[in-house]
Amino acid sequence: MIFDDPIVAATFEEYQARVASERRLMAGGGASANRPVSRDDLLLPVGPEVGSFLHSLVLARQPRRILELGTSYGYSTLFLADAAKRIGAQVVTMELADYKQAYARERLARSGLVDVVDFRLGDAVALVEADPGPFDFVLLDIWKDVYLRCFEALYPKLSEEGVIAADNMIDPATARPSVRAYRAAVKAKPDLQTVLLPIGQGIELTVRWSAENAKL
Ligand SMILES: C[S@@+](CC[C@H](N)C(=O)[O-])C[C@H]1O[C@@H](n2cnc3c(N)ncnc32)[C@H](O)[C@@H]1O
Repeated sequence: MIFDDPIVAATFEEYQARVASERRLMAGGGASANRPVSRDDLLLPVGPEVGSFLHSLVLARQPRRILELGTSYGYSTLFLADAAKRIGAQVVTMELADYKQAYARERLARSGLVDVVDFRLGDAVALVEADPGPFDFVLLDIWKDVYLRCFEALYPKLSEEGVIAADNMIDPATARPSVRAYRAAVKAKPDLQTVLLPIGQGIELTVRWSAENAKL
């Protein structure tokens, strides 16, 4: 198990139970209490495989400042915050919906991880523009039509050897036009190396690196 702390592990199991219940609901047609389920009712999590991958990557890369775009209900934040706490890093997480942020904050507080998380409410593009940076590690997982604008806002603040993990590169298929535009923008930057990883719903893993900054 990735989470050593039993309280964090218990919170993760609660999230997984909610994921399973949402899957059953959607398989049954997606109606809840006589109203259709909206995407804002759902966790829409990165999933355990990507969560574990991000956790390991944070431990290996040792970023000081982690940026999460798309807190949702805090599933991915749990992985980032647990890894951040182990290495003395900070997570800045951004979300549009106050009720999702409140849910995430409560879960992280209960898990003893709230001290390493700076919760910010509002539009990620404006919030990133207002932050001086730098960002050493970024999880990009907001609505896909905002990926490109977010990338443009955060790219100048990405530290040397900084990493961006962008979710939903493969699924859902409806996101493909936005995702294509995002990947093209990343590939156009000469100081970014990037690769598509077929894990979870598809992660584009991008690293800022240039020969001039190589430590010889
Ligand atoms: C796919 S969910 C994030 C899932 C989360 N990373 C996880 O794994 O649990 C996307 C979230 O981004 C939020 N969002 C969408 N557009 C946003 C924006 N422009 N600024 C801030 N948050 C945004 C949505 O409200 C939603 O909660």
